Amino acid sequence: MKRFYDFFIQKAKDYYQTAPKIGQGDFFTSPELDEAFGISIGYFLEDYIKRLENPVLLELGAGNGLMARDILKILDIPYIILEDSEYLTNIQKQVLKDKNVRWVNNLEKLESFEGIILSNEFFDALGIAIIKDNKELYIDDTKEVWATVDKETLSIIKALNIDPSLYDEIPIDAFYIYKNLSRLLKKGYILTIDYGYKTHPHTNTLRGYKNSKIIDNTYKEDIFDITYMIDFSKLQEMGETFGFKNISLKKQRDFLLEIPYFVETLQTVCEEESMDSIQRCSRLKNLILSMGETFYALFQQKP
Ligand SMILES: C[S@@+](CC[C@H](N)C(=O)[O-])C[C@H]1O[C@@H](n2cnc3c(N)ncnc32)[C@H](O)[C@@H]1O
Repeated sequence: MKRFYDFFIQKAKDYYQTAPKIGQGDFFTSPELDEAFGISIGYFLEDYIKRLENPVLLELGAGNGLMARDILKILDIPYIILEDSEYLTNIQKQVLKDKNVRWVNNLEKLESFEGIILSNEFFDALGIAIIKDNKELYIDDTKEVWATVDKETLSIIKALNIDPSLYDEIPIDAFYIYKNLSRLLKKGYILTIDYGYKTHPHTNTLRGYKNSKIIDNTYKEDIFDITYMIDFSKLQEMGETFGFKNISLKKQRDFLLEIPYFVETLQTVCEEESMDSIQRCSRLKNLILSMGETFYALFQQKP
């Protein structure tokens, strides 16, 4: 019998190590939809970068490297990528071959810096434990078993003031990541974009995807994308625990519509009548309509 937390980590590792089909099969992400996403983030970050001395950007979990490629069209700044999939690191190295980028597969390998830490759909791939009625979820072969809450889970439940009697998804690895980020970031910001909620609905948000379809039984399937919706109130709480100040939490739609470059691109593209522009207009609209509604952008500061 193993903790659901260990099951999740193993599944996520297996998936990202073995040719994940980001943008062309299992799921697509905002940077895969249009370059305007990464370029807009570049413009958004420009102002904050000016306030820092010798700043660097650290991207967590860069997928096919497209957000980095597009941000670096706007910003001339040293860029670090945290990536633990060798398969994706090789793709990123191809896409970013002429750029000032350094790769690490573990935050422990980095020295502290001033800068900005950013991610898109990184936190939804990190290990969680599941609790309900003061019990934790374990997996016995393919069966769910609810048993005593593990010590590690309990310490995070306490640190984040979580009610263990309600169904909840406990972001164990996100907690460790925040702890590391707090040690690493002398001064700067964290921009986290992901899909989720402002507060947890206390229902199961866990999903398995294969070829863009939801999997029925996650315990029986071999390799697939395992993910869940981010509870942004917990990321805010973790930030505060580790010395970050919450600056803003906005829907992706509002975040993008406050960036002049994004609005101008949307207007220009959607006024044109070529087939390419019509298709691009619909991808841009997706970033503010359906994805714009389900995704949030959290901006935190290390003063
Ligand atoms: C859902 S994908 C998002 C990719 C990309 N940010 C995008 O928006 O297209 C998650 C990314 O995080 C990486 N990742 C997942 N867990 C990680 C971990 N513990 N450490 C480093 N990278 C991780 C995966 O390999 C992958 O690149």
